[in-house]
Amino acid sequence: MVEKNKMSCIVVRKYDAEKAIKVLRKHRLLATDFKVMRCKDVVKIPTIKPLTKNVKIAFNNEGILFKETIDYFERKSVVKTYKDLVKNIPREAIDRLPSSYDIVGEAILIRIPEEAMNYAQIIGEALLRFHKNIKGVYAVTGETYGEERLTPLKLIAGNSVEKTVYVEHGVKFVVNIGKTYINPSLSFEHYRIGEEVSDGEKILDMFCGIGGFSLTIACRKKAEIYAVDINPYAIRSLISSLKINKLKGTIYPILGDSAYVFSKFFNKTFDRVIMNLPGSTYRFLKYACRVLSDNGGIIHYYRFAEAINEVIFEFLKLISSFRSVVKILNIRKVIEVSPRKRLYVIDAYVM
Ligand SMILES: C[S@@+](CC[C@H](N)C(=O)[O-])C[C@H]1O[C@@H](n2cnc3c(N)ncnc32)[C@H](O)[C@@H]1O
Repeated sequence: MVEKNKMSCIVVRKYDAEKAIKVLRKHRLLATDFKVMRCKDVVKIPTIKPLTKNVKIAFNNEGILFKETIDYFERKSVVKTYKDLVKNIPREAIDRLPSSYDIVGEAILIRIPEEAMNYAQIIGEALLRFHKNIKGVYAVTGETYGEERLTPLKLIAGNSVEKTVYVEHGVKFVVNIGKTYINPSLSFEHYRIGEEVSDGEKILDMFCGIGGFSLTIACRKKAEIYAVDINPYAIRSLISSLKINKLKGTIYPILGDSAYVFSKFFNKTFDRVIMNLPGSTYRFLKYACRVLSDNGGIIHYYRFAEAINEVIFEFLKLISSFRSVVKILNIRKVIEVSPRKRLYVIDAYVM
């Protein structure tokens, strides 16, 4: 049995209803939380209180015939999150659903707990109804894997989204869903580095992916950026994104292994090296040191760890074989990956 509330209301002819609602809304008398009732040729519109003189005059001026009365009205169902649209699944499963998920252009990537996976399609369809501009919803079915750091995905509702455009701080990225690394939680980090760079810098983005750092920098600064990735889809995406952004800087996308491509740069050295491959950064530090300008430069060293001390210790120990650290400029936790795994970054000025 639906609960109804006793309210003052007006009864108007069906074809006057829209005009009457407009007048009531203008005079702030419309009870917007309640549903209007349609009965044969008339419509009953709930109001928050009886009509004022001004509203009656407005109705007369508009030629709206009306009758004031009292009736019972049903409250509109309030949809605040996608969970309000998930129907026919046990309450406990709804309670365990995540409140947040990643929106990547026209796709949603959501981590559904194991026990709710049987209802994945219902959950996906609720998300599609909640976000009108989304074409496909994907469940993240495991941890990021492999050298290319891909996320295992399963389409659970809508259509497969092959290519879409995702925007971070005004920078547009062409994304091949499921074929490249993507993590919207890094958006502030991309922005932060973009703000730190100065015009004229030469930068190496050693593990550029779809260009999170490279494009953010190039959209803001007149820098020269060499963006390397081993994943051909990532480099292809980056090349497509170059055409849809207004760039101040220049990006040179390079498909290859960061450990080997340097032989192609001949004498090129850099003012800044971005090392965002947090599971294996330590393996590449010597290559970064090799190409950093002799006059000194900045290294952004990203690393997974439980505590920051582990990262500082590792970085200082490893780099001491190649270069000297003049100053640690910044140390920060970038994101919480899991209760015992965080992504940290050290920004260091190195000679
Ligand atoms: C964590 S993602 C970084 C993405 C990007 N920096 C961002 O912020 O969105 C790591 C990237 O490194 C690439 N990669 C892994 N090993 C590599 C290597 N040896 N040389 C170049 N790129 C590599 C992967 O394909 C992946 O795109």
